[in-house]
Amino acid sequence: MNNDQITLENSMLNHSIKVLLIEDNLAEARLFKEFLKEDKSQQYSLVNTRQLEESLQEINLKCQNYDVILLDLNLPDSQGISSLNRLIEEFPSIPIVILTNLKDEQLAIESVRQGAQDYLVKKEINPHLLIRSLRYAIERKQVLERLRQVNQVLESRVETQTSELIKAEETNYLKSEFFSMLSHDIRNPLNTIQLASQLLQRRDERITMEQKKAHLQIIRSAIKNMSSLLDELSFIGKTDSAKLKCHRTQVNLENLCRQLVEENQLAAGEKNVEIELTTSGNFSQTVWDKNLLRHILGNLLTNAIKYSLPNTKVLFELIRQDRIGIFRLTDRGIGISPTDQQYLFQPFYRGENVGAIPGSGLGMAIVKKCVELYAGEIVVDSQVGVMTTFTVALPITEV
Ligand SMILES: Nc1ncnc2c1ncn2[C@@H]1O[C@H](COP(=O)(O)OP(=O)(O)OP(=O)(O)O)[C@@H](O)[C@H]1O
Ligand SMILES: [Mg+2]
Repeated sequence: MNNDQITLENSMLNHSIKVLLIEDNLAEARLFKEFLKEDKSQQYSLVNTRQLEESLQEINLKCQNYDVILLDLNLPDSQGISSLNRLIEEFPSIPIVILTNLKDEQLAIESVRQGAQDYLVKKEINPHLLIRSLRYAIERKQVLERLRQVNQVLESRVETQTSELIKAEETNYLKSEFFSMLSHDIRNPLNTIQLASQLLQRRDERITMEQKKAHLQIIRSAIKNMSSLLDELSFIGKTDSAKLKCHRTQVNLENLCRQLVEENQLAAGEKNVEIELTTSGNFSQTVWDKNLLRHILGNLLTNAIKYSLPNTKVLFELIRQDRIGIFRLTDRGIGISPTDQQYLFQPFYRGENVGAIPGSGLGMAIVKKCVELYAGEIVVDSQVGVMTTFTVALPITEV
């Protein structure tokens, strides 16, 4: 490497200010070296390079261990502001002071704008000016560096807090969705209880002991269903969003579906609608999120019964296709028009043909949400006044 090492105080090298002078004019380089000797309170270690490429190599070779760079903007291999840009790009933490001729002062001002710490017009340089400029440049750069670090810490704090806030908002949103879902679905067992108690009261003298027992059993299972919904409610109140996702445990799927059928038997009986449950395939080793399944199938089944024509049949099919569980509910009822099918899953949307049949239009939005949480799919096939089939496909997980 073609550079002159001018060590001013070899013995004090470790404590000296390390200056890289990028200047191809040897006479000027020597003059600046002499100027630095004037500083009695500080030692300097000065290395002089004459070209830009050579300077970049030198800085890398010394592991960027320079306190300040004095840069002439007219070098044999690089002219003007591009030398400065290169140096700042590669070594952003080393302060740079520009050396310029009188006619290039505009360029020097521009250099300061682009990140140089200071500029010195060569003809005007004296020891005092040079020393002051170098010291200020180092000082200023250190302050800037500290500010940059503080800024970085603040930025990363803001980032963390923002992401925590977003997470909290998401959790709250998810929780409020679940709360409305649960308060909606709690109405189903309540309706069952109301229906069963009305039947018990109305037909008190006419019903047999057996029927009475059956009605009381229905009331008990509806209460059980309500209490599990309340458990779910308090679980969600306490938990974070990660746990609001799919939570699978081993479930006897057929039993769960049978229970759902039983819970809806009274409402079906009122219209003389028969519910037929069929299973095809083996579900014995499968795990499911019981709560999500209850919301999905419960809403589909109550709808199928509610919108059935009297004296018809509701088909509830459970089909295993490899790693997919298919749940299909078919009713012979009022059906859903193609237009209504488009909006069916929107909260509070109700079909144009529901007439006096009561409802809030939330059930299908809940079904959709739960199917999404399950990464599954739901499709509807319907003919107005004839039939409706909802098919839900959910991925199967095994123990
Ligand atoms: N099996 C079905 N047969 C005919 N129409 C249906 C059926 N299932 C859903 N729909 C239509 O989709 C609409 C939305 O259903 P959703 O379950 O969301 O609300 P809902 O049953 O009206 O009220 P609720 O919130 O009490 O369940 C219904 O109002 C109805 O028009
Ligand atoms: Mg409904």
